[in-house]
Amino acid sequence: MKLIYFAIIVCLATLITPFFGFAETAQSPVEANDIYVLTSPDGKLRLHFEVVDGVPTYSLFRNDQPVVLPSRMGFTLEWRDDLAHAFVLKDTKYSSFDETWEPVWGEEAHIRNHYNEMLVTLEQPAGAVTSADGRSKTMATVMQLRFRLYDDGLGFRYEFPQETLPILLRQEYPPKKDNALVCFWIKEELTEFVMAGDHTAWWIPGDYDTQEYNYTQSRLSEIRSLWDVSHKNGGWPWTAFSKTGVQTAIQMKTDDGLYINIHEAATLDFPTMHLEYLDDLSTNPWDTISSVPHLQLTPEGQKAHTFRAWLCPDATGYKGRIQTPCVTPWRTVMVCEKATDVLASRLILNLNEPCALEDVSWIHPVKYMGVWWEMISGKSTWNYTNEFPSVKLGETDYEHATPNGTHGANNANVRRYIDFAAANGFDGLLIEGWNIGWEDWYGKQKEYVFDFLTPYPDFDLPALNKYAHEKGIRLIMHHESSASTVNYERWMEQAYSLMNQYGYNAVKGGYVGTIIPFGEGHYSQPINNHYHYAIVEAAKHHIMVNSHEAVRPTGLCRTWPNMIGNESAMGTEFRERIHPGHTSILPFTRLQGGPMDYTPGIFEPDMGKIVPWGKKMSHTICNQLGLYVTFYSPLQMAADFPEHYEQYMDAFQFIKDVAVDWDTSIYIMAEPGDCIVTARHPKLSSLNKAADGLGELPDGKKGVISNATKYVYNLPDDVQLSSFNFQLSTPHDVWYIGGITDENAREVSVKLDFLQPGTKYEAIIYTDAPDACGLPDDSEFRTPDCKLKYNPQAYTITKKVVTSKSVLKLKMAPCGGFAVSMREIVNP
Ligand code: NOJ
Ligand code: CA
Repeated sequence: MKLIYFAIIVCLATLITPFFGFAETAQSPVEANDIYVLTSPDGKLRLHFEVVDGVPTYSLFRNDQPVVLPSRMGFTLEWRDDLAHAFVLKDTKYSSFDETWEPVWGEEAHIRNHYNEMLVTLEQPAGAVTSADGRSKTMATVMQLRFRLYDDGLGFRYEFPQETLPILLRQEYPPKKDNALVCFWIKEELTEFVMAGDHTAWWIPGDYDTQEYNYTQSRLSEIRSLWDVSHKNGGWPWTAFSKTGVQTAIQMKTDDGLYINIHEAATLDFPTMHLEYLDDLSTNPWDTISSVPHLQLTPEGQKAHTFRAWLCPDATGYKGRIQTPCVTPWRTVMVCEKATDVLASRLILNLNEPCALEDVSWIHPVKYMGVWWEMISGKSTWNYTNEFPSVKLGETDYEHATPNGTHGANNANVRRYIDFAAANGFDGLLIEGWNIGWEDWYGKQKEYVFDFLTPYPDFDLPALNKYAHEKGIRLIMHHESSASTVNYERWMEQAYSLMNQYGYNAVKGGYVGTIIPFGEGHYSQPINNHYHYAIVEAAKHHIMVNSHEAVRPTGLCRTWPNMIGNESAMGTEFRERIHPGHTSILPFTRLQGGPMDYTPGIFEPDMGKIVPWGKKMSHTICNQLGLYVTFYSPLQMAADFPEHYEQYMDAFQFIKDVAVDWDTSIYIMAEPGDCIVTARHPKLSSLNKAADGLGELPDGKKGVISNATKYVYNLPDDVQLSSFNFQLSTPHDVWYIGGITDENAREVSVKLDFLQPGTKYEAIIYTDAPDACGLPDDSEFRTPDCKLKYNPQAYTITKKVVTSKSVLKLKMAPCGGFAVSMREIVNP
């Protein structure tokens, strides 16, 4: 009887699970020579797994064409034998999974997570490995490899189950080198990605401390010769490790037009993975780190283009301290026929765990301004006084210090920003330089640099928050740690509690400088753990986090959606150093792991008008507008000064109207380094969410409506929440389109076939004027045919009635762009 029940349940499960969960698949996995095969749901991608002379290897094909040639897997270890060879295959398990999940915020309301999986169990049998010291292993060791194959790529990770130790070994001290896998230290990860050709790649140099680089476009074989030049374009501090080291996500394109992207997903309790391109001059890691000879896997005579994983070491040089049971991050290889498919891929998010938070009602998208660009541009300072070359918190007397007169975060200036942000429907206002300690925060490598609690004498924290809340603005807290993670952890609980006390619900963190504890890099395992700790602790306080200089994201925002932003790439603060193609590369690379706080919206790109030493940035105003749709982020800044926006209020209207959270995104046109055109449809449920929480504040509900809400519902400018009932109103169908280009002017045709058929829309079109040009006259990126003078603020705004049959022809100036908002015309 029990058996019959069991059979019925299994049958039902098999019928139902393809729609929402796991199912065992009936594949015929084994080919000749014990190659185990996994195919993607659409059958186009094929993974081969094989143990070659005891070494685990994988390869990947698309429509029978090789994408990754046979590539080895494994680790060399300290304190026990390497997990690199002498393996036998014990078991393979196949399954498939198909579910659709809803992100808290994102580029679409629903994401499909559909893959086929193979779990391989490998064993190093007892006695199979002889260590360098001549002893042979006394115990078998198990390592598992989990492969997930999607239609748009591969994810795989290593898994280390808990092994049972014989009682005798458990008591042994010091522990024997050949003990079971319980705690061990990684010397090197040996995972390779052997590319099948000398592809074109968009890459930044490998670095343990910064990702703030311009990208270089080159053939793989050119990485070494271009590495030095590329490295000079970076931020600070930099810690390079190899003249062929590169960071992920790296975007590649084959000569046949296939787009391949290598990155990682769900990096938790593990160092970040960089890649080293192994050319003829690279040191063969096997010569130096292992007694095991390198395996020649690639066909004789073929020049392989091999990347090998390069983990960021900790202060002692180890690349991961592992305690079983545990899993590594996923290593990912995205494979897409079209560039737009790379932008539409959710591979990285899907490989992360579902949301860890039960209550996410306090998490919402934020459009914000800031007392920030003043300091970045050099107009104002973070510090309050110029009197102190050295600050000792608790001893330095700020009350009697002479103010320097350039401190940006002063009461009057902050009120001015609050007024402007409130009048234009923003949700938040960031204020940097509010707390004591900025006089010697930078480059001094101070452990005790800030307390994150004490405001400068001219920053009245309670009064400013009250003033902001009355106007429907939340202040955004700033915690620059100056890379002293030790000090930040010391103050974190009090700092987050202070935020709760005054109704701040978002913080911008920062990690400028050399990491403390000394010897750690920005992306080592202990420091990655620090960033994660900050997110988890913030969640307990219902605080959303945006960290600058932290590790580049790997999709963890799916699990922790209070991580609403990161910088982790070269953003607007690099001003004139940003190359023209940079913003059309970022969505392929940095943004694959999660949103970026790029801080767009600079309407006065000639920094020489702000400070004498300023230079010209390479973009037009319309390019900046286009970025709000091009870059997905639930956190978008209008970074420029109010007085700059006041000069161009008609163009600023687009920044006011644009939403920051979407139910549908369409990638119309894209090529890394050239141009991107994107259309997005707002998610109504989160449109006005930033204002929700204001009702819970001690000063009560303020009747705030964001400007994006006003645009979608076609509400008058002066409408108040208290006089308006959302339930009764019908939202208008609204779309936004954004386009950006590099140094080349372009004309694009955009079919509006995604609009509702039979509906008329009013389109407001913001385009570069015919004489607009975002390229400075002396720019090294000028093409010979470009006769235009630098003219970044020339634009035209036109209104037009459009339908799903319309095609918009839009011209972009060099370093230009465009933006379009379209709203359904109700009762025309
Ligand atoms: C670097 C950050 O990227 C920038 O946004 C911030 O203003 C400074 N650090 C100071 O914290
Ligand atoms: Ca930065």
